Amino acid sequence: MTAQLIDGTAIAAEFKAEIRGQVEEMLARGLRRPGLAVIMVGDNPASAVYVRNKRKACAESGLLSVAHDLPYSTTQGELVQLIESLNRDAAIDGILVQLPLPQHIEQSLIIEKIDPTKDVDGFHPFNVGRLALRVPLIRPCTPYGVTKLIEHVGISPKGRHCVVVGASNIVGRPMALELLLMGGTVTVCHRFTGDLEPYVMSADILVVAVGRPGIVRGEWVKPGSVVIDVGMNRAADGKLVGDVDFDGARKRAGWITPVPGGVGPMTVAMLMKNTLEASAGRVHA
Ligand code: GUN
Repeated sequence: MTAQLIDGTAIAAEFKAEIRGQVEEMLARGLRRPGLAVIMVGDNPASAVYVRNKRKACAESGLLSVAHDLPYSTTQGELVQLIESLNRDAAIDGILVQLPLPQHIEQSLIIEKIDPTKDVDGFHPFNVGRLALRVPLIRPCTPYGVTKLIEHVGISPKGRHCVVVGASNIVGRPMALELLLMGGTVTVCHRFTGDLEPYVMSADILVVAVGRPGIVRGEWVKPGSVVIDVGMNRAADGKLVGDVDFDGARKRAGWITPVPGGVGPMTVAMLMKNTLEASAGRVHA
């Protein structure tokens, strides 16, 4: 058996085209263009690539992108001041602070300064809490994008064993909440789990978000399962690889996401969707 590929690039392009159409309708009605402020502090090379992709996607989706590239030496107080001014800015619907932040800035404090209605990353405790309570408002982009990929292959997590490997705030934890919301029976594996093999072997839907190439071996994958690889690692030869042994897993899974071209583009597309929806809930002068 060879798994079918889940083409995240193509599915994300459909979302961006749909968003662009909706933005054009808004402009035709005399409303302003939805605006996303993208803040980057310092010059982490991986963050610079992600931020460039987000700004490019804004252009493709018809959204206004406002860049705030700040030096590494920016203080916590200066960043808070910028966020407070963007919270008040009527042209800005979404505020994204690229993570990680420099060590001298407290990440959770910054996230909590963002107006929850402009928190298009969905990281504010208000938005995480809404998802946990089954009344999601703005949803974290990567897990939200993964739900769209799973819907696309037409497999419902309802009653199925969904295994999430990785328990980060950005992916693993909100991913478990999304799968629970979809009716899945959810297991979360993390650094203290020990042997991953028996968990992976019983997963009908497997989502891996660790950041370690090959942490999931191909021969562990349950035949016919859906494998979603959130990992993005740079191999020794410079190629981008995921966390799952792709060649091995592909022989057993029913569906699998490639890296690159799987989850990554969907994360960005969901950021566009969140920004459009945040804008729809605001007054448009
Ligand atoms: N760093 C890694 N992933 C993300 C993300 O989804 N959003 C932000 N803001 N920073 C990140």
